[in-house]
Amino acid sequence: MKKITIAIDGHSACGKSTLAKGLASKLNYVFIDSGAMYRGASLFALRNGCLNQDLDKTLLLSLLDQLNLSFKNVSGTNCLFLGAENIEDEIRQPHVAAVVSKVATIKEVRVKLVAQQQEMGANGGIVMDGRDIGSVVFPNAELKLFVTASTAIRSERRFLELQGKGIKQDIEEVEKNLIERDHIDSTREESPLIQVEDAIVLDNSELSKEEQLEWALNKVFDIIPPSSSI
Ligand code: DC
Repeated sequence: MKKITIAIDGHSACGKSTLAKGLASKLNYVFIDSGAMYRGASLFALRNGCLNQDLDKTLLLSLLDQLNLSFKNVSGTNCLFLGAENIEDEIRQPHVAAVVSKVATIKEVRVKLVAQQQEMGANGGIVMDGRDIGSVVFPNAELKLFVTASTAIRSERRFLELQGKGIKQDIEEVEKNLIERDHIDSTREESPLIQVEDAIVLDNSELSKEEQLEWALNKVFDIIPPSSSI
């Protein structure tokens, strides 16, 4: 039974992780949210005093060997751990979102996390979402999706998601953070967010979660017909 690699890239808060999680669950693949790893590296940087006025790159690089991120299943949910601590909730907080794009511009951080991501996907059967998955992490992925949605819709979705977790932030603040992150992510020197030539574009502005999952599953089944994949 052939297990493929699925790379999902796209803008902030456009539902990439929801789609990746849904596909992994349907196909019985591993799901990896690579953005969580950059958020984990940012929390590590925050806790170690690398982000005061500006980012202290020298200090962060001197500590990089101590950055130990891993995913563990906690009651059926894939959670990010920093050492032995479950940091899944904290990395979603606004103070981490505010600095993550900055930390993600650092080449040495990316080299370390990309190596770990490639190791996790070495045997295929993985759905990974992020910004550079189809371009850098898995350039040979059998299926590459580029997901996007309008800024207004993405802001509203992220606002509701934060609200659901009890995190209070104005929708204007949420939108400002998304626009800022998209700009940094798309214009940085190291592995910017790009739509690679062989990616299929999905604008899910008008689609429900179920509709986008069905759309993507059909793309998978174009590559591996259902009888050979399940
Ligand atoms: O997917 P997310 O919004 O949780 O990602 C958080 C940040 O991490 C995002 O602003 C850009 C960065 N990121 C990245 O540079 N490369 C990835 N593969 C995934 C995320």
